[in-house]
Amino acid sequence: MKFQKLCVLGLGYIGLPTASTFAKHGVEVLGVDVNENVVETLRNGGLHIHEPGLGEIVRDVLGTGMLRVALRPEPADAFIIAVPTPFYEDDKRADMRAVKSAAEAITPHLQKGNLVVLESTSPPRTTTDLIVPILEKSGLKAGIDFHLAYSPERVLPGQILQELIENARVVGGITAESAQAGYELYATFVKGDIIKTNATTAEMVKLMENTYRDVNIAIANEFSQLADSFGVDVWEAISLANLHPRVEILRPGPGVGGHCISVDPWFLVEAAPEITPFIRTAREVNDAQPKFMLSLLERALGSLKGKKIAALGLAYKPDVDDLRESPAVEVVHLLQSAGASVKAFEPFAPNASLPSLETVPTLEEALVEADAILLLVAHSQFKELDTENIAEMMTGRVAVDAINGWNVEKWQEAGFELTRLGVGK
Ligand SMILES: NC(=O)c1ccc[n+]([C@@H]2O[C@H](COP(=O)([O-])OP(=O)(O)OC[C@H]3O[C@@H](n4cnc5c(N)ncnc54)[C@H](O)[C@@H]3O)[C@@H](O)[C@H]2O)c1
Repeated sequence: MKFQKLCVLGLGYIGLPTASTFAKHGVEVLGVDVNENVVETLRNGGLHIHEPGLGEIVRDVLGTGMLRVALRPEPADAFIIAVPTPFYEDDKRADMRAVKSAAEAITPHLQKGNLVVLESTSPPRTTTDLIVPILEKSGLKAGIDFHLAYSPERVLPGQILQELIENARVVGGITAESAQAGYELYATFVKGDIIKTNATTAEMVKLMENTYRDVNIAIANEFSQLADSFGVDVWEAISLANLHPRVEILRPGPGVGGHCISVDPWFLVEAAPEITPFIRTAREVNDAQPKFMLSLLERALGSLKGKKIAALGLAYKPDVDDLRESPAVEVVHLLQSAGASVKAFEPFAPNASLPSLETVPTLEEALVEADAILLLVAHSQFKELDTENIAEMMTGRVAVDAINGWNVEKWQEAGFELTRLGVGK
């Protein structure tokens, strides 16, 4: 099958790199986003997200005309849906409104022989039970008149452009022919294996991957609390346990964030609550970890009322600007609720404005007269700080490290009392 024209719906962390990579490989791409700011920014040569190398490739393919951007789809040979699938905060149900409306926007343009691929992370059976009925309103039959597939994305933010091409990709069709059509679309640029399966298996694969990560981080987080109460250094204990040839414990931290690992396990719990007690518990353990961070700060500082704290990092993981579902943000909120005055510095989003949270554009502004410095995210630039210089700017000498990013001796030499997550006395 030859795909000359592709329409990608959703131009975020997944859709924009995907659209640009197809365009770079000779496919004429229309990138569609319902957010006018996104479309305007891209048309004006800007970029609304931070991802290494993305600016260059986007400018390149916009310049050659292989990528155009618009608010609405047009007829094409293939459509990819890469819109958000968050959850409802109150009951953690998957919020499928964007997926639904993207499918509805495709329906009037659908033609015989087209391929539609859903990439958004979705609850099991979404492709067959939600997408098929919407697209069949076109009068065409799914799997007969047009192909339909689910293909999960598993790229790592920060390395998206490379991983899009190199990672193995699963393509699940609602029929074998749909899987084959999906295979041929991604073969345009994917160098990793492309494995064909059915749509519901492909949906499960994505949810299983992220749930596996979540429960493994949950056990590391629980170990951090156990080590703290038994007077053990969890970092040392993990590195020793990992010498066992069949053990690989992950790293604990202030919690689990981002809009994938902290969200996707709920899609399985929602789909089958009575048979997912383990997955639910892991989610609850990880969601409770920011509270444990609060207790470490209380131990280091005594009452938090009126204490000034410089919080380093708000992103959900190192070296990205993504603050969604970030446990670092949750820790700051908890500190504020306990009466502390927190100035947060996020170098990848220095002017981020978040409800009821004060961010400052430089590290210096966060540190001035602070009683404590708190490391929440392992951004590269936070690992090698000038501790003497920091001591001069701060009032207090309390440092708290939630990610084992700092050298103990260095901080102690500068006069700090360093408290580390998972290190009991
Ligand atoms: N970011 C990741 O690392 C990652 C990894 C794997 C899977 N995913 C999944 O991929 C999907 C997209 O994630 P993302 O990080 O790219 O999201 P994002 O929020 O960065 O971008 C989504 C874009 O879709 C747009 N949009 C919303 N509704 C739309 C509609 N009806 N039509 C067209 N555009 C619409 C939004 O305006 C936004 O610009 C989600 O399901 C996510 O779970 C993300």
